[in-house]
Amino acid sequence: MPRLTLRGDFVNKVYKPHLQNQHRYQIYFGGAGSGKSVFLATRCVIDTLQGRNTLIIRQVARTLKSSCWNEINKAIRRLGMQHLFTVSKTDMTITARNNGAQMLFCGLDDVEKIKSLTPQTGVLTDIWMEEATECAYQDFKQLDKRLRGGSPHVKRLTLSFNPISRAHWIYKEFFSIWQEDRPYAESATVSILKTTYRDNRFLTNDDRAALEAEKDPYFYQVYTLGNWGVTGNVIFTNWRAETLPDPVPGETRMGLDFGFAADPCGFLLLRYERKQKRIWVMEEMYEKGLTNLALSKRLSPYASFGPIACDSAEPKSIAELRTLGVNAYPVRKGPDSVVHGIQWLRQQEIILSPACQHLREELSRYQWQQDATGQALPRPKDKDNHLIDALRYALENDIDSRYAFTANKKSLGL
Ligand SMILES: Nc1ncnc2c1ncn2[C@@H]1O[C@H](COP(=O)(O)OP(=O)(O)O)[C@@H](O)[C@H]1O
Ligand SMILES: [Mg+2]
Repeated sequence: MPRLTLRGDFVNKVYKPHLQNQHRYQIYFGGAGSGKSVFLATRCVIDTLQGRNTLIIRQVARTLKSSCWNEINKAIRRLGMQHLFTVSKTDMTITARNNGAQMLFCGLDDVEKIKSLTPQTGVLTDIWMEEATECAYQDFKQLDKRLRGGSPHVKRLTLSFNPISRAHWIYKEFFSIWQEDRPYAESATVSILKTTYRDNRFLTNDDRAALEAEKDPYFYQVYTLGNWGVTGNVIFTNWRAETLPDPVPGETRMGLDFGFAADPCGFLLLRYERKQKRIWVMEEMYEKGLTNLALSKRLSPYASFGPIACDSAEPKSIAELRTLGVNAYPVRKGPDSVVHGIQWLRQQEIILSPACQHLREELSRYQWQQDATGQALPRPKDKDNHLIDALRYALENDIDSRYAFTANKKSLGL
């Protein structure tokens, strides 16, 4: 093939050595706007011209078009290489004209497609999991197994993400070699590069100022500084996301938190195993702007599953949903019911389907309020808790009211 010469300014400096990175497992993580996605999209384009076949993954298929698919098409244009590729929007493939190598796109929620996806020539040499914290450990393991078969190219699995929670499986799996004060670590098989907005010279001053002005300490750590999100004040650590068993054991519960304009409406379908103290969260709905009529339509598939426990602050909405055929009822909200519910939830094992992205985000960020000295108070911050509220409502009747509750710090593990 003709030699490729790339102008030096296509790639941020920090990533340049990684154009040729041959590690089996490659991790690109850090803050928002650090150039991770653009770099990996650019590298993918160049790799394809060299005969590599890349499968580009996100958890949810419908988010691929607006992210990786766009980034790769932009990278092709930026490199002036439109004439070197055939782009098929219908099957979401991009094929190099010189060698037939391909970039394939698939969501992990598209179970049938992912099983059958293979490149038209040769074998898969690369998998790029974008926003990999959305994905379950089992899916990563399955994808890892896909990377085998004869090929002149080293097989590589690349993960990119923001470090949302130190409790994440990615941290456990790869970060034993990591030292927080360094931007790079490697072993024989793993390489880890941390970047932040400071590494991206293509950002505007406004972009930078916005990241620097972040007031929320959690967001500042994770999205500005690119550090693993942990605070002593996180309320829930007793949860994980993984592929749920089929069938899911336990009794069905459903909860609904109302919202419309500023706040989303949050709904959860789950199963509860009382003896095992185990909550399986199967499905979530998280949407703004739903009228009660639209909401009732969205809830109709669940009609036969039983009653839906709703926020009692909106009796009118509950009444309206009932006339629209939804088996909605208000939860009882006693004094201290929020903290009591949290205390109870903290004693359960909570397992989420990887599809429950919003609940996962809420759980990883839900925090206690702090006093002026930074000490945690036994009151949660009333923020980003729509699905957590729906979770409490769904389990309202299971929440043990026998033991006398006092909101002291010890009972909350503070
Ligand atoms: N190599 C590049 N060439 C041109 N613009 C870039 C490049 N890298 C990053 N950018 C700009 O910076 C923005 C943020 O980069 P992105 O890769 O989306 O960051 P991250 O994935 O780390 O959040 C992009 O939307 C793009 O405008
Ligand atoms: Mg990105």
